[in-house]
Amino acid sequence: MALLPIILTPEPVLRQTARPVEAITDDILALLEDMADTMYDAPGIGLAANQVGRLERVIVMDCAREGDAPELWKMINPEIISSSEETAKLEEGCLSIPGHNSEVIRPAEVQVRYLGIDGNIHEMQAEGLLAACVQHEIDHLNGVLFIDHISRLKRDMIWRKVLKEAKARS
Ligand code: NI
Repeated sequence: MALLPIILTPEPVLRQTARPVEAITDDILALLEDMADTMYDAPGIGLAANQVGRLERVIVMDCAREGDAPELWKMINPEIISSSEETAKLEEGCLSIPGHNSEVIRPAEVQVRYLGIDGNIHEMQAEGLLAACVQHEIDHLNGVLFIDHISRLKRDMIWRKVLKEAKARS
């Protein structure tokens, strides 16, 4: 088990676009394993490669309720292939913006296509928390943060605090 340091805003890597993975190497498998360990340890329900300083298109998620069996997803090159018109508003947080949660409106259901660690292409239909989570994580791979989806007023408020906290850390 290896824990990776989680990158916090405003580090630039969180604003960069991750590159598609071209081959499932041992390095990619180890990265996914370490990302899962890091997510569970945090604890969090999702983690994207940018958040551990890697610009490869991989994410991990586990949105199982507390007390239920774990449901770990490891996705390589995930992409949303369809989104519902219907939207849902859910409270989101982010391990890279700790302590600042906000409600976010997103499509309520999405269909995602991804490469599994078995080397096969899979599709997943997600709703509820899992739908919000997979959209949040794929956003990360495109340099997008959940605060980009909220009102400017709220975003500015969170951003001021984030910068203050970053200054205090340095
Ligand atoms: Ni996040």
